[in-house]
Amino acid sequence: MQTKLAAIGEEALAAIQAAGSAAELEKLRVKYLGRKGVFRDVMADLKSLPPEEKPKIGQAANRLKKEIAAAIDNVKKELQAGKGPAEPTVTFDPSLPGRRPNIGHRHPITQMIDRIKDIFGRMGFSVAYGPDVDYARNNFEALNIPPDHPSRDAFDTFYFDKDVVLRSQTSTVQIRVMENQPPPVRVIAPGKTYRPDTVDATHCFMFHQVEGLYVDEGVTMADLKAVLTMFAREFFYPDVTIRFRPHFFPFTEPSVEVDVSCAICGGKGCSVCSRKGWIEFGGAGMVDPNVFEGVGYDAEKYTGFAFGLGIDRLVMMKYGIDDIRRFFENDMRFLSQF
Ligand code: DAH
Repeated sequence: MQTKLAAIGEEALAAIQAAGSAAELEKLRVKYLGRKGVFRDVMADLKSLPPEEKPKIGQAANRLKKEIAAAIDNVKKELQAGKGPAEPTVTFDPSLPGRRPNIGHRHPITQMIDRIKDIFGRMGFSVAYGPDVDYARNNFEALNIPPDHPSRDAFDTFYFDKDVVLRSQTSTVQIRVMENQPPPVRVIAPGKTYRPDTVDATHCFMFHQVEGLYVDEGVTMADLKAVLTMFAREFFYPDVTIRFRPHFFPFTEPSVEVDVSCAICGGKGCSVCSRKGWIEFGGAGMVDPNVFEGVGYDAEKYTGFAFGLGIDRLVMMKYGIDDIRRFFENDMRFLSQF
């Protein structure tokens, strides 16, 4: 019996040392130590031994079992440490479905700009862009904003120097377009605008506007109202109504502020529209003849309207978002909802 144990031990330890993979080791473990393994037979043989030999052989058998288990562990560790052919940790299963890469999507503001371009595009407006950094002249003088106008104060505009600013309105693009093409003009100009506002739920130092400009012979306020009504119907819902309130902008005369009937309460008054039934939508008006003269358009022959809408506001209204900062925090939990 002793020689039998010795033979088993020799064979097992040699096989374990020679094992080249975790799988081979596992086979050896089952072969020797498993429930139906070699040691089960040894224990069965033990029963037939004379009682005085039993403890000695039994102990020897147990020692050998432990030795084999330890040898398996050792070799396994060596294999894992890379001293031997490494077992591939990931096996390739061609039947598994592929993993989709996370490709992301357009930002909600960009989506909205695309939608706005699409709606105005169907009304014959093309898209123009201007630089975020522009001459103070395009942001002010050319728009009939005199040097002593309050919005020229450093508190309302970021200045690089006295002649160059971060544009505080997309109206700059009106000037760039008119200086580069004769009438008729029908463009929108979406983009970023900047003002040194303290950041809170409804203000940010950077926000988005879309400017509109329509110049031709015989353009009137009726055209302005029609275009903005059509836009609001497409953008919000079909039976939305808009209204004009008298206002002042240096570059339009007459000027109006435009309200849209509240989509939430249908105009009855609710918390979203501060019980007014109307939500402010943007500014607009008939282009001031001074602006036409500045860009060399014949103010006797042509008339036109212009408007400026706040895009961030439109998106907030449309989705009931209560804080403009959400757009710029880059929080995927928010952005992935659009
Ligand atoms: N530029 C104005 C603003 O930022 C908005 C605006 C009002 C644009 C009237 C226009 C306009 O083109 O006609 O508040």
